[in-house]
Amino acid sequence: MKPSIIYAAVIVLIAGIFHTGSGNAEYADVVLNKRAEKQGMRPVIYPHWFHRIRFRCKVCHHELGFKMRAGANDISMSAIIDGKYCGICHNNDVAWGVENCDLCHSGLPGLKTGIKGGAQTGGPGRW
Ligand code: HEC
Ligand code: HEC
Ligand code: HEC
Repeated sequence: MKPSIIYAAVIVLIAGIFHTGSGNAEYADVVLNKRAEKQGMRPVIYPHWFHRIRFRCKVCHHELGFKMRAGANDISMSAIIDGKYCGICHNNDVAWGVENCDLCHSGLPGLKTGIKGGAQTGGPGRW
């Protein structure tokens, strides 16, 4: 390969890294509260940034089938217990299991499904 081609490839690669780096800060925390509070549980805070530094986008948004819009996935507790959605990983194997209710159901009452936080992530208990 000619050196110029290699340089071009490197530049494209670096540009790609910076692009993903800056573009994703927005998906800080996703509030999931379509069912939880109606059923007497606190809203769920999904720390998107926390997860996305551990896994590639395509793991969740392609291979696991999570739709890329807050509230777009019809996530229920029974589906999670059956090993779907969050339960694909939160099964005491890849990550801690469903018995840790408060780690997911950590939102303050009244939060609506959607995005919380801009460039920051709060994680459990912050919102
Ligand atoms: C790994 C994260 C996680 C854990 C741990 C977890 N939940 Fe959930 N739970 C969710 C999500 C996500 C929803 C759907 C939120 C929404 O849109 O309202 C949900 C929904 C619910 C609902 C609403 C009704 C339904 O069937 O969907 C109840 C009740 C509930 N969870 C109870 C619990 C209890 C009790 C525990 C502990 C034994 C628990 N959850 C642990 C993530 C979790
Ligand atoms: C560990 C799983 C996981 C990973 C990795 C992940 N996401 Fe997500 N993403 C989710 C979940 C869950 C939601 C919320 C879906 C819902 O509310 O139904 C979400 C929501 C989103 C949204 C919607 C935001 C909005 O405003 O509605 C976008 C955009 C997004 N992700 C982009 C990305 C990108 C880009 C990457 C990689 C840089 C990525 N995600 C990595 C699980 C993940
Ligand atoms: C692809 C695997 C994967 C999926 C899918 C996934 N998680 Fe996680 N999650 C993890 C791992 C790994 C950790 C880190 C566990 C640890 O630190 O022991 C984690 C940690 C967390 C934490 C703790 C964050 C902190 O600050 O310590 C919360 C809350 C959480 N997940 C909620 C969810 C919810 C809600 C969903 C579904 C909407 C979900 N997760 C889906 C892998 C996943």
